[in-house]
Amino acid sequence: MSDRDLNAIARGIVENGKGVLAADESTGTIKKRFDSIGVENTQDNRRDYRELMFRTAGHGKHVGGVILYDETLRQKAADGTTLVDLIRSENVAPGIKVDMGAKPLAGAEGETVTEGLDGLRERFAEYRQLGADFAKWRAVIKITNDIPSAYCIDTNAHALARYAKLSQEAGIVPIVEPEVLMDGDHDLARCQQVTEDTLDAVFNELYAQRVELEGILLKPNMVISGQDAAHRADVQAVAAATVATLKRCVPSAVPGIVFLSGGQTEVEATAHLDAMNRMGPLPWALSFSYGRALQQSALKAWVGQPGNVAAAQAAYLHRARMNWLAARGEWEAAMEDAA
Ligand code: 13P
Repeated sequence: MSDRDLNAIARGIVENGKGVLAADESTGTIKKRFDSIGVENTQDNRRDYRELMFRTAGHGKHVGGVILYDETLRQKAADGTTLVDLIRSENVAPGIKVDMGAKPLAGAEGETVTEGLDGLRERFAEYRQLGADFAKWRAVIKITNDIPSAYCIDTNAHALARYAKLSQEAGIVPIVEPEVLMDGDHDLARCQQVTEDTLDAVFNELYAQRVELEGILLKPNMVISGQDAAHRADVQAVAAATVATLKRCVPSAVPGIVFLSGGQTEVEATAHLDAMNRMGPLPWALSFSYGRALQQSALKAWVGQPGNVAAAQAAYLHRARMNWLAARGEWEAAMEDAA
């Protein structure tokens, strides 16, 4: 049992259509994003970029939580305010990515297992003191003709559940993220089968390891055609397959499901979320935890120039609002053109 009401924290993050901003890019991953706009990957630039998002007036209406990387959780804004305090000033919950990344899985060519369990109880205690309300751990499942193996799925599911229970013990809501990658030329049906196998294994482990389902958020991929598929399933097909899979695999005790965007364009990710929410009523809040699909336009508007901060904030706020509308099933494509 935890000393905090984890269900209340989880529900607060996704209430009324709110979702999560995934701003937890590791130093290596943010370098890729900065390279795309010609910005040097320094600590100050990382700080300035994250600070501009967290200072966006009114984003707390659409975003209930922000996932941070270790560096950012400890960082101060240019004026000395901690970034955690800035985030809270908009009524947004700070979260922390705690996994150490996907590493090659022994004996399984081309597959990975996510590491980071050693010392995690002690790290959670510190993160709680630094102000984290929730955490994230991402497992990665890759599809080819020959993989994933049951070994890879089960090993990752086991680690996700170990993480989730330690998180709850520390009074921190675990976001459980098993990501089936979009890379490859597989079709929708193959993604659906692998996603179902993965979610089945994950919920079996969560149950076996005594994780309270009322106090987690699930962060899955959508059921979607591979990036290089000859025929890409349309919005309605993606939405229908995803909702069917989640209904089969995710107990209704789970308060919220927040999708990753995984390489979808900004508008695709919004359109899919909206289509799913129009298929309700659903037993859980269905919302977003997007990284790229919330930040791409903002990064391009910013390009590292202080004079562009207002434009970057407007771009970020627009995406946050569009996805908030989508989580309520109230988004229209014409709203994109109007902006
Ligand atoms: P994307 O939405 O860019 O996939 O990132 C979300 C995330 O946090 C992946 O772990």
